[in-house]
Amino acid sequence: MPLPALTSHFARLFSARPRVFRAPGRVNLIGEHTDYNDGFVLPAAVGFSTYVAIAPRPDRKLVIHSEEFTGSFEFDLDSLPQQRTGAWCDYTLGVASVLSQHGHKLTGANLLVHGEVPIGAGLSSSAAIEVASALALLSLTDTQLPLPDIAKLCQQAENTFVGARCGIMDQFVSCMGKAGHAFLLDCRSLDFKFVPMPAGIRLVVCNTMVKHDLATGAYNKRREECEEGARLFSMWNPAIRALRDVSAELLDQHANDLPGTVWKRCSHVVRENQRTLEAAEALSKNDLKRVGKLMHESHESLRDLYEVSCRELDVMVDAAQDLPGFCGGRMTGGGFGGCTVNLVKEENATAFAEQIAERFQHATGITPQVYICSAENGAQAL
Ligand code: GLA
Repeated sequence: MPLPALTSHFARLFSARPRVFRAPGRVNLIGEHTDYNDGFVLPAAVGFSTYVAIAPRPDRKLVIHSEEFTGSFEFDLDSLPQQRTGAWCDYTLGVASVLSQHGHKLTGANLLVHGEVPIGAGLSSSAAIEVASALALLSLTDTQLPLPDIAKLCQQAENTFVGARCGIMDQFVSCMGKAGHAFLLDCRSLDFKFVPMPAGIRLVVCNTMVKHDLATGAYNKRREECEEGARLFSMWNPAIRALRDVSAELLDQHANDLPGTVWKRCSHVVRENQRTLEAAEALSKNDLKRVGKLMHESHESLRDLYEVSCRELDVMVDAAQDLPGFCGGRMTGGGFGGCTVNLVKEENATAFAEQIAERFQHATGITPQVYICSAENGAQAL
C-alpha cells in the first residue's frame, strides 16, 4: 500500500493525520543459530517492510488495527497484559509493555499496522512489526533512543512477552540495515561492520511456502542444547561463557565427552561462526566462489548437525545448484520451512526465479514464491 493510501485509510478510520514508520524484514546470508550463542551473523535488510501509522488519542487506550491481519484490538495502557494474548497484535503490544516497564511514558494512541513482509517465511515479519511499532510508540513520547537500544527492547518483547527466545539478529538488522550492504554483526558486543554487496548480484529469496509446526518449540530446544554445551565446556575451561568462546580445537578435543546431540549442535555453532567471519571477508573481496562454498557448507551443517532444515528447503537448495548465474545459496532464518537465500548474477535473476520455481513445483507439488531482492535500508520515519 503506498504511503498516501495508508495515510488516507488511517484518516478514514481514526479521523486524524498519522505519522508513519517503516521497518524491513531481512535475509541472513550466513551465521544461522549463532546469534543467541554470542556469535556472528551476516544478514541484510530487504525491501519488504511493515508500516505503522500512529496518532495520539486523548485517553489511555491503545487501539491497534490492521487490514491484512484480522481483528482490531483495544487495550488500556495502565493495565496492559503481561504476556502474549495469542493474536498478531502481540508484537505491538509486547513492545508497548516492555517500553512501559522501562519507564517510557506512553500516551494513548491509534495504530494502523500494514505488513508486507511475508508471514511465517523466516524473513522476520515479527521483528519488522516490533521495530516499526517501537518507533511509532516512542514518537509520541519525548524520548529519543538510539536504534541499537530499540533493537534490544524489541528482542526483549519477543523473549519475555511473546515467549520466543530469539537472538538479537532480526531486530538489529531491521533497525540498522544499509542499502547495498550486508552487515557483519558481533552478537556479543553488538559491534558491526557493513560489507558492500558485490555489484551485479541480486538476493533471490525462494519461499517454500511451508512452515512446520515445531518451529518455536524446536527453536527453544536448540537453544537449550547450546546452553547445555556451553555449560559443559565451561567446566573444562572456566573462561567460556557461550559457544562463541569455544575453539574448533577444544570442540574436537571433547568430541567424545558431550552427549551426541549436544555435540552436533555445538559443532554447527562453532564452525558456523568461523564460516561467517570468513564469508564476510570473502564477500568484501568479491570472492563469490568462496562465499558460495561457505553458504553450501552452512546449509549442510544446518541440515545434518543442527537439524533445522526440512525436505522442502533441501529441495529448493538442490534446485538452484546448476542454474546459470547461481553463486551460492542456503536456507535462511530459523528453519523448519520458510525461505532459501541465493546470490544470483543480476542478468540471470529473472530466469533463475522462473526455473527454480518450476523445478520446486515439479518436485514437491507446491507453487513457491520467489522474490528478487537487494539489500535495503533499515527502519525510518517516513
Ligand atoms: C530466528 C531468530 C534469530 C536467529 C535465527 C536463526 O530468525 O529470530 O534470532 O536465531 O532464527 O539464526
